[in-house]
Amino acid sequence: MNDIRSKIKHLKTEKNAVILAHNYQLPEIQDIADFVGDSLGLSIEASRTKASVIVFCGVHFMAETAKILSPDKTVLLPDVNSGCPMADMINPEALKSLQTQHPGAVTMCYVNSSAEVKSLCDYCCTSANALKMAQKIIPDHKKIIFVPDKYLAQYVSDQANHHFITWEGYCPVHAEISPQDIMQQKSLHPQAKVIVHPECRPEVTACADLVASTEGMSKFIINSPDKEFIIGTELGIIHRLQKENPDKIFHPASEKAVCTDMKKITLEKVLWSLENLSFEITLPQDVLIKARRSIDRMLQTT
Ligand code: 13P
Ligand code: SF4
Repeated sequence: MNDIRSKIKHLKTEKNAVILAHNYQLPEIQDIADFVGDSLGLSIEASRTKASVIVFCGVHFMAETAKILSPDKTVLLPDVNSGCPMADMINPEALKSLQTQHPGAVTMCYVNSSAEVKSLCDYCCTSANALKMAQKIIPDHKKIIFVPDKYLAQYVSDQANHHFITWEGYCPVHAEISPQDIMQQKSLHPQAKVIVHPECRPEVTACADLVASTEGMSKFIINSPDKEFIIGTELGIIHRLQKENPDKIFHPASEKAVCTDMKKITLEKVLWSLENLSFEITLPQDVLIKARRSIDRMLQTT
């Protein structure tokens, strides 16, 4: 293992590469990464990096977003099959048909969508800024289509007090977490604060002390005087939370909240990716340019 780590380090310098990893990555991937963060943080990092090669340890739509923001760089996804089931729940044809049914509506897409879907949207958002984005555009647009996550859409819609035209997409990992899971953990750890992701079901967000993106969770916990937390999101984040807060205790809301796609990236695949400069993300120029508009509007607001 140490051999793999030192080979990765060596190749990183040789190829002027940076390793970006999402908070749900395996612990060993988080530990070798140059930057670990949420979808928003990773997008910002991808847009600012001086490296020539970005090895993206996450899922396909995240690597595409990095490519859109850094089109002149080589963006690599160590496992080409690392996708996002929620992003796959909507395709360009379905979105076009929804837009035809609602003429005059603007479209906001969750970053968990393909580059092609983004290219059809006016605004992009992540879980960290979805509410802020919605509050910014609501005064100018009565009709807003929000795709693909129906649970994030409902959470933002409730907070912003504005109706959205939604899509039936959802994250199968977060949808697995039930209010019963939260209640059970709460009965075992009554003093623990409950923190959940807005991709969770409304019945779950309703029983949380805080609803936040993965980065929002990290920031809140670092600054919190509380010592114990029930975490309602993918289990990978607990590695980062524990590293940042060695004196605090974390209880997963559900042991079943594992994103198998995120876990497809291994140290061996990262090494292979750097050795072979694969799998390289490429996008048609028109998709790249159109998708960038919606992401740029998001980054300007953040
Ligand atoms: P964030 O880390 O941006 O909160 O997103 C969670 C997620 O599901 C990414 O796929
Ligand atoms: Fe997609 Fe859910 Fe996995 Fe995130 S956790 S990548 S939304 S399936």
